[in-house]
Amino acid sequence: MTFRHETERLVLRDWDEADSRTFWEIMNTPAVMQWLGGPQPFEEWQEGFARLQGYARDYGHCFWLVERKSDGELLGFCGLKRINYEGAPNPGMPEIGWRFRESAWGHGYAKEAAIASLDLAFDRFGYDEVTAVTVSGNAPSWGLMERLGMIERPELAYHDGKYSAQYGRARQWVITAAQWREHRARLLASGD
Ligand SMILES: CC(C)(COP(=O)(O)OP(=O)(O)OC[C@H]1O[C@@H](n2cnc3c(N)ncnc32)[C@H](O)[C@@H]1OP(=O)(O)O)[C@@H](O)C(=O)NCCC(=O)NCCS
Repeated sequence: MTFRHETERLVLRDWDEADSRTFWEIMNTPAVMQWLGGPQPFEEWQEGFARLQGYARDYGHCFWLVERKSDGELLGFCGLKRINYEGAPNPGMPEIGWRFRESAWGHGYAKEAAIASLDLAFDRFGYDEVTAVTVSGNAPSWGLMERLGMIERPELAYHDGKYSAQYGRARQWVITAAQWREHRARLLASGD
């Protein structure tokens, strides 16, 4: 069954094969890829895309394609997979992740997609907790994690075989289902 979920401004959905090249053409910029090893050849992205399709097949969720409802513009991805990084101490733990095109930054789209993804993680997929991974330099990413009420678990930091030589240790922020319910109510009550 293909996945599709709507929020106020966004559609989160499974990927078609044809989305892969469009995504790479839009997203493969030095700014978007600053903390992800820099721009990558299409073949390398395509390997990651094949893994994404595997998560959708195996778990029923992945880092979904995110489009703007009003005009169908591809904005990025956001969603859920499971930890599978070389060196991570918690393989298999549900993970939220995001990547948006530069022109979409600062509009709250990532936050909107992330709120939906956490709702889905706890309500539809029945997970007890969700983690997110980034490096110290990526303030927009861990800033969003903290905005969502995620709390750093220093004991989950690790030396990532792919990225740590360049960016330092990978760090993780976690939220439980109970913490999310409480934080979500506060986010909504404060109007943002
Ligand atoms: C991480 C990313 C998705 C954030 O996108 P964004 O457009 O800034 O996110 P939003 O507009 O939805 O902002 C959500 C929250 O992030 C936080 N945030 C954004 N930029 C921040 C920064 N520089 N420092 C601290 N917090 C920041 C804010 O708390 C903001 O909430 P607020 O506006 O209500 O205060 C975007 O920078 C991106 O795609 N980066 C490139 C890919 C990437 O590195 N992905 C993550 C890999 S770990």
